[in-house]
Amino acid sequence: MAYFDHAATTRLSEQVRKAMDRHLREIYGNPSSLHTPGIEARKTINSVKNRLAEHFGVTRQNIIFTSSGTEANNLALKGMYFRHPDAQIVTTTIEHHATENSVRFLERIGCKTAWIRVDRDGFIDLDALKQALKRDTSLVSIIYANNEIGTVQPLKKIIPLVHEHGARLHLDMVQVPLHQAIDFPALGVDFVTLSAHKFHGPRGIGCLIARDPALLEPLIHGGQQEFHRRAGTENVATMIGFLTAYEAARAQAKTHNAHVDQLSHYLIEQLNLKAFDYRLNGPDLDHSRLNAILNIGFKDHDAQHLAFQLNRHGIYVSLGSACDSDNIEVSHVLKAIDVPKAYIRGSMRISLSDENTYEEIDHLLKTLETILHET
Ligand SMILES: Cc1ncc(COP(=O)(O)O)c(C=O)c1O
Repeated sequence: MAYFDHAATTRLSEQVRKAMDRHLREIYGNPSSLHTPGIEARKTINSVKNRLAEHFGVTRQNIIFTSSGTEANNLALKGMYFRHPDAQIVTTTIEHHATENSVRFLERIGCKTAWIRVDRDGFIDLDALKQALKRDTSLVSIIYANNEIGTVQPLKKIIPLVHEHGARLHLDMVQVPLHQAIDFPALGVDFVTLSAHKFHGPRGIGCLIARDPALLEPLIHGGQQEFHRRAGTENVATMIGFLTAYEAARAQAKTHNAHVDQLSHYLIEQLNLKAFDYRLNGPDLDHSRLNAILNIGFKDHDAQHLAFQLNRHGIYVSLGSACDSDNIEVSHVLKAIDVPKAYIRGSMRISLSDENTYEEIDHLLKTLETILHET
């Protein structure tokens, strides 16, 4: 089998599973309880958060654990809206549905919004952003590394524009930690969303890093967990999983990136060599993008058919956004970057990690060759 859907989710690493397993067996107290097992659980949370905070360059009060990246995006957007209901929220036309549909919901309840267009490679139109920003803009929410086409936004140009207008900047960085460390002070933004299952951690845990958590109205009310920003008894094992996976990702990032770069170049070279009629949707390799995410359109083909046939051969790719598998609509991201009609329906996402091999790429290419000739 060949798994090329790492932007959708990654395999839980053995190291992470073991760290979580030890906790699940040994530490059972409720972190809010004042007896010894409870205190032990609370200490575990504190030490996980302190270590993560050190990695991110923040304090543990700046980290709000959530159930997912989706919830963290919801918290940034709705949390800001409920505190500043008269203010405008700005986002882009190529967001993950977690952002897109949260902003659409906010529009339905009266929030003023602006949607910034992107160019053909998925880069934000900075003039459009400049024009959209108003004195009453509370938040700009941007997908830093796009989950469908890999585009990485020019942060250095975006930040001054946003902050000049007194607005806050939220980055969806869910696709980033396998490739790059999260240095919150160096980023210079206000909120960052992460999700553990995108870097070999468990599902069911994400986080929002917030420069000032008090700016956010909580979405879930109840107890005092997460410094009053997200109520509910903590899922301590997944927090340990998050930390273990993040540290492993840091230790492996250099070799991971080198291998993924080599594989992505090899894949594109081979597609050229075999004279496939294809198009790489998004920036060229090495141009402000994640090379791990390759969105490839095959001319006059139907990607659903291709993906189905690949699946029969044990090769797993994705069509558009993974969280969207029931949706046969053409991806809003591919529409936003104006992928030509002849290629858009034949577009699939091949997302790589250091677990992929040259043999798997060869298997993919050979199988694609056969399927494309049959159809
Ligand atoms: C860029 C981006 N943001 C948000 C999400 C949602 O994260 P989660 O699956 O943890 O809800 C995803 C998942 O595909 C993503 O790729």
